[in-house]
Amino acid sequence: MKVAVIGAAGGIGQALALLLKNQLPAGSDLALYDIAPVTPGVAVDLSHIPTPVSIKGYGGEDPTPALEGADVVLISAGVARKPGMDRSDLFNVNAGIVRSLTEKIADVCPKALIGIITNPVNTTVAIAAEVLQAKGVYDKKRLFGITTLDVIRSETFVGELKDKNPLEVEVPVIGGHSGVTILPLLSQVEGVEFTAEEVAALTPRIQNAGTEVVEAKAGGGSATLSMGQAACRFGLALVRAAQGEENVVECAYVEGDGKYARFFAQPVRLGKNGVEEILDHGPLSDFEQQALESMLDTLRGDIKLGEEFVK
Ligand code: APR
Repeated sequence: MKVAVIGAAGGIGQALALLLKNQLPAGSDLALYDIAPVTPGVAVDLSHIPTPVSIKGYGGEDPTPALEGADVVLISAGVARKPGMDRSDLFNVNAGIVRSLTEKIADVCPKALIGIITNPVNTTVAIAAEVLQAKGVYDKKRLFGITTLDVIRSETFVGELKDKNPLEVEVPVIGGHSGVTILPLLSQVEGVEFTAEEVAALTPRIQNAGTEVVEAKAGGGSATLSMGQAACRFGLALVRAAQGEENVVECAYVEGDGKYARFFAQPVRLGKNGVEEILDHGPLSDFEQQALESMLDTLRGDIKLGEEFVK
């Protein structure tokens, strides 16, 4: 398996590369690309870690050598949030970056599984889909917005609140990856009951957890280490499923049946070719049903913005 990390010299990219160097299956190739000239050095640095994963870094204008032969491409290239910005403020810069990188992927490794981290994910995934479609290589089963950070934050916060080992907590998170579009299904957490007040407090905490980090970093960026961990978990799930492991399930923002919106985060069973089956999110509480209905205009608007950007 060859995994390419694009934006690999950044805060997320370096954390992700470190985790993948340590956790990819033996014999994997890890390729790092970033416009920053330090990128080959990041790879040399990581190459001194004794794991059976080979690593190579590429800087400069052209991602082609990193993309050649890639089975999985994880994209965190772009600019990050500063205090006072929400994810949609990133649109103007990041939309163009995702468009040009996806054009390269379409030309160089059109069959790769693509995981998008660059925000605003609700919109950048739509941009990638439109670009791939225009190039005639779009396969909706192979394109993912990575929403795993919402899942791991939910697991952490539920573990804290209910005094449980967070590794044993599972929380499906559906919708999108920004503000009210993030909907943790707390009613489905096994073995835990929440009061209405707890749900009313915990849901917005999960939705705004990114802002907690942005404010705490006080101008120094947004979540990088937890996002690196989340992207690693999702990237490894793609790799494990691609290598034939069965029953690999993660929530991800994918194009499904369009019941709620063209793209929607939901539990997905992964297989050799990406999405094998989109799983039902199960019964919703009244609170969740209402939250779902009231997010849809926002989510559909975010998607339309991406579609129109490319058209
Ligand atoms: N190609 C490759 N790399 C690029 C490009 C490009 N066209 N444009 C920018 N980059 C690189 C930068 O050189 C930098 O190393 O992307 C990296 C971004 O790193 P950071 O600024 O540290 O940002 P980070 O915190 O990693 O977040 C990146 O992911 O979650 C999102 O909201 C976040 O959109 C932001 C992105």
